[in-house]
Amino acid sequence: MSAVSPCGVRLAGTGSAVPPRVLHNRDLERMMDTTDEWITQRTGIRERRICDPRTEGTFTLGRDALARALDEAGMKGSDLDLIICGTCTPEMACPSNACRIAAALDATPAAAFDLTAACCGFVYSLNVGESLIRSGRFRSVGVIGVDAMSTAIDYDDRSVSILFGDAAGAAVLVRDDDPGKGCIYQRMHADGRGWASLYIPRREQEVPADDRENPIRLGCLRMNGREVFKFAVNRFRETVEDALAGTGLSVDDVAQFVCHQSNLRIIEAARERIGIPSEKMPVNIDRFGNSSAGSAGLLLDQLRKDGKCGAGDTVVVVAFGGGMTWASSVWRL
Ligand code: ACO
Repeated sequence: MSAVSPCGVRLAGTGSAVPPRVLHNRDLERMMDTTDEWITQRTGIRERRICDPRTEGTFTLGRDALARALDEAGMKGSDLDLIICGTCTPEMACPSNACRIAAALDATPAAAFDLTAACCGFVYSLNVGESLIRSGRFRSVGVIGVDAMSTAIDYDDRSVSILFGDAAGAAVLVRDDDPGKGCIYQRMHADGRGWASLYIPRREQEVPADDRENPIRLGCLRMNGREVFKFAVNRFRETVEDALAGTGLSVDDVAQFVCHQSNLRIIEAARERIGIPSEKMPVNIDRFGNSSAGSAGLLLDQLRKDGKCGAGDTVVVVAFGGGMTWASSVWRL
């Protein structure tokens, strides 16, 4: 057995993609019994992006986001030896989105697989990709978080549909000789006992007895909003505090906390409890809604492109979501 030489991981590029079609709260007012004011006050969302199902989906969004990340890295698809696509709305069960994206970007024969961790899809993929490079098995990995929740939403229902949008974020990770570079701390957790708080049943028998009266169609997302709210606020705070304690960092040491965009009230509640200034925990949920696995990668890319974080900075990426799952990833960029 050959010894694995220690290495670090460089985040060589990020990219993102959203569909051009904008769905405003005013559009939802025409589709269901709701108001712009109700949605804005309860969620902070004003508009979200929605795929055209004839031409767009998680394959196209994921492909475009990773192509942009490769461009920024000055690399080609053929430079990758692994692609991980975090999504809970893959276009097909088989093949994976990742295999199709690998083919589209000329990355064959890079290994490719999808990973399901709902809203944690990007952070889980980032952590798995980073760990596989540190293991010595892979040298350059493309990670993607993407969801087209519009394909799993019942727009006759006002309680869930108002929250979600479609987006992808991607990152290119490459082996670096400096072991201090890259992810300095990561955690991934799940508690499947709470699965029925947020789920997409395909068949009647998957629906728990106490949710059988729910009018939301099979194949569409069901959510216990209050349970998710409680879970998210508490786990969000605990996950950020654990990342700070685990690294010995203070809030001042962190350039940006890049958090899954679930709901503005959830983000604000956790931010205030931890004591993080708003400029260090930016939001884009007003423009993109909750894009599930797409959200953290989309925000990370926007922050990098806006110069809010860059080489030498420490960034804490955090997500929580269906499963229930939660995860953190602390990076020295
Ligand atoms: N427009 C107008 N009224 C509405 C709407 C709507 N879109 N949706 C629900 N209502 C009504 C309800 O029917 C109810 O009316 P009633 O009092 O006459 O029965 C009233 O508003 C209050 O409904 P609640 O469900 O109690 O509203 P709540 O204040 O809990 O807000 C919300 C609902 C926004 C979904 C909240 O529970 C929440 O934010 N939960 C967290 C969900 C979340 O963020 N999920 C993200 C996905 S998971 C993740 O990313 C981790």
